[in-house]
Amino acid sequence: MNPLPLARPASGRSTAHRVGQIETCHGPVPKIFDEFWTAKQRQMHSLHYALSYRASFKPELPDFFIRQFSRPGDVIGDPFGGRGTTVLQAVLLGRQGCSNDINPLSERITYPKLHPVSIEDFEARVATLPLDLPRDLSKEEDMSMFYHPDTYREILNLRDYLKTHRDDIDRFIEMIAISRLHGHSPGFFSAYSFPQISIPKANQIKINQTRGVEPDYREVKSRLVKKARSALKDGRLEEIVAGGRKVRLTVGDARDLREWPTESVHLVVTSPPFLNQVDYVLDTWIETWFCGIDAKKIEDQVVQTPDLDEWMQFISDTLAELHRVLVPGGLIAMEVGEIRYQGELLNLDETVVSLTTSRRFNLGQYRVREVYVQTQEFTKLANCFRVKNNVLGTNTNRIVLMEKI
Ligand SMILES: C[S@@+](CC[C@H](N)C(=O)[O-])C[C@H]1O[C@@H](n2cnc3c(N)ncnc32)[C@H](O)[C@@H]1O
Repeated sequence: MNPLPLARPASGRSTAHRVGQIETCHGPVPKIFDEFWTAKQRQMHSLHYALSYRASFKPELPDFFIRQFSRPGDVIGDPFGGRGTTVLQAVLLGRQGCSNDINPLSERITYPKLHPVSIEDFEARVATLPLDLPRDLSKEEDMSMFYHPDTYREILNLRDYLKTHRDDIDRFIEMIAISRLHGHSPGFFSAYSFPQISIPKANQIKINQTRGVEPDYREVKSRLVKKARSALKDGRLEEIVAGGRKVRLTVGDARDLREWPTESVHLVVTSPPFLNQVDYVLDTWIETWFCGIDAKKIEDQVVQTPDLDEWMQFISDTLAELHRVLVPGGLIAMEVGEIRYQGELLNLDETVVSLTTSRRFNLGQYRVREVYVQTQEFTKLANCFRVKNNVLGTNTNRIVLMEKI
């Protein structure tokens, strides 16, 4: 593979904002700080915003790396796929893609974005959904803190329908329904809640008490159609479906991508769990419940460890597996954050770089080209207001770009 040039900031500046370096036993690695992509919200294709996902990256991040470091037709992979941001952006840029995640929820929400349907087909199907069937709610899971009984009846009927109806229109309906399960505005099915996190029932009861409200009736069909309209508004559906058909979606551990052929991927753009900053199982419990996914099974497999050594071994094993699937000279852009670890601020980019120079880990597999630190005005503002990093998770993007040796 011919080497592609080093990336330059999207801002068009010819010199980077600030350049530092990470010292390694193989020499210094340049660390570039700049606003590589915009801090503005919702600038990319509307399908990216079909639903929220815990700790997802902005589509601008894979967009930047795919444009800079791959060519049309190349295969772009993400072993920690989440809501499928990398593969969707790959397809939008005329690349091929493969995406994996340990949580089957990832496949449920990624597939429909790669097989979008027309709003006419969507509306026609929604109109036929049998959501008014009677239900005995006393035999169902108690979700009364989230949903009005009539809304809950409609959700349960939709859930049952989706168990046996699985064409692309049904799957798109499922993805849109997942996006509406809980949130803060009247467009969601639930009483006022959090859109990105499925909070525990006890916390929802407290929210209702504090606000002095009971869940009000939220009709399901009209909310599905409204959200689908906004998700599909940027079009290009035929092109996305044509590209989406070629995408490989797998469910499994990033350390064992057995369905991904050897030397098949040109560029990986990915973001692993940052130790145990996020609980990907607990925080998606309403989604997994709706999809009938057994959360207990995933709990044992998702890697969210408080132990740095264990995390380093996990990332190292993933890098070793990615070494197998990458073409010679293939690249990985791995996004990590800064976290608080044992009272100290820890920049995980430096930890990832150290793996590539360590005999115990990935020595001889990768050469780190550079590290990108996305700096944004909001970070500085947050600091002014003494909003500390990591209080609510991480808030800088640090991307280690490494090349397969
Ligand atoms: C930071 S999120 C990725 C978000 C993604 N970049 C996006 O934009 O949606 C990390 C993902 O890793 C997944 N995960 C955790 N342990 C895993 C493992 N052992 N193998 C594969 N995926 C895993 C989680 O389910 C979660 O979806």
